[in-house]
Amino acid sequence: MTSTPVSISTRGREPRRVAPVPHIARPPIASWRRSARLGRFVAATWVKRSLAPELHIRPIAAECFLTDNCNLRCISCTCWHENTTGELSEDEWRSVVDQLAQLGFIKINFTGGEALIRRDAARIIAHAREAGISDLHLNSNGLLLDEDRIDEVIAAGVRSFNVSIDGPDAATHDAIRGRQGAYDDTIEAIRALVERRPRQELAIRLNFTVMRDNCDRLADMAHLAQELDVDLYLNLATDTTFMFRDATISELTAVDEATLRSSLKAIQRVRRTNPARLPSELDLSYIPGHFGLEPQIDVPCVESQLKLMIRSTGATGGCWGHDAELNVRSRRISEIIDSPQYRAEQARLFRKDCVQCGSNYSVNLRTQPRRVLPTLARPTRRTASSTRTQRRINRERGRG
Ligand SMILES: C[S@@+](CC[C@H](N)C(=O)[O-])C[C@H]1O[C@@H](n2cnc3c(N)ncnc32)[C@H](O)[C@@H]1O
Ligand code: SF4
Ligand code: SF4
Repeated sequence: MTSTPVSISTRGREPRRVAPVPHIARPPIASWRRSARLGRFVAATWVKRSLAPELHIRPIAAECFLTDNCNLRCISCTCWHENTTGELSEDEWRSVVDQLAQLGFIKINFTGGEALIRRDAARIIAHAREAGISDLHLNSNGLLLDEDRIDEVIAAGVRSFNVSIDGPDAATHDAIRGRQGAYDDTIEAIRALVERRPRQELAIRLNFTVMRDNCDRLADMAHLAQELDVDLYLNLATDTTFMFRDATISELTAVDEATLRSSLKAIQRVRRTNPARLPSELDLSYIPGHFGLEPQIDVPCVESQLKLMIRSTGATGGCWGHDAELNVRSRRISEIIDSPQYRAEQARLFRKDCVQCGSNYSVNLRTQPRRVLPTLARPTRRTASSTRTQRRINRERGRG
């Protein structure tokens, strides 16, 4: 496929005047505590990697899947394949959030499915802020982020957004997302967020999932992000994370090597002219490895130690690619993260004895001095075929 110009529709509407949502600054003491906790976490990962492999690191951020259900039908995701029932109620989520605050968690990412299909989403988020967690993030497909809902979630305390766009034009995005008009609605949501950014100090990230059907469009996505004035994150399609385990999705992870490499060259050219809002060279260099075209380079997995996964039905622990064994309905979170099961699993995941999902690879790269200082780089010597073999072995062992 050849590159086509980026199309941004505003559907001829004038943006509504921004509602005066009050600005809530983080108290200085909270910022200080947050930095100290983050510093301790980074130091602990260094000690675990270099000196004490048995060190138990407690997570400091939570990924809360408010629901597994969704209002879209993306070809890369199974959330909509069936209706998940028995999800945590608003009161149960409030209790989860209280426990996270008591344990000193510094950040919560609210996600799904589509978190905003829950009418109580903003109330749960506001409860997290009231409990003392000021770093609140929301992942969304943008469809329900109209002006009122944006004001509602900002008032609840969200200051950081990932909004998904799977192509630089309506044809590509809507085909992947399974709904005509999705692109226009999501672009409108991003524009409305950008409009509020100066007053609310919002971080806004455009999440583009690279897969077979759009991997030729990296340069166009770079132009789109720059035009919208939001950061571009290249999320990488996988079939190993719990929402994405399906044969049709495995096909989408099989990107064509020549297409991907030429697309990477194209985005690097855009970067050389103007790097604003674009992924770093380090991030770009990771992508062929994820798709099995080069050695894997992000060992160990800091992401698996950083985050506590809390699924919509209460299953808690594991990581993106490995399911949790314990549940917040039957145990306190403090008991879960100090349990022998959780500790053994986290030790294994840190070593990347795992299905290698590639989730949040940026974090792993940035916490590896040898990657950040390329002259000292010594990538793990794994061939593409041995990476695939390891994935197959892990699957056969039933770890996926
Ligand atoms: C599961 S969605 C949940 C949040 C929200 N519904 C959305 O679409 O942004 C989180 C992210 O996963 C991405 N995603 C979808 N299919 C994927 C796959 N097979 N591999 C990796 N990421 C995928 C989505 O594009 C989105 O950016
Ligand atoms: S990627 Fe997001 S929007 Fe698409 S089906 Fe999955 S949860 Fe829904
Ligand atoms: S890379 Fe491995 S350890 Fe890290 S989140 Fe993915 S499956 Fe888990």
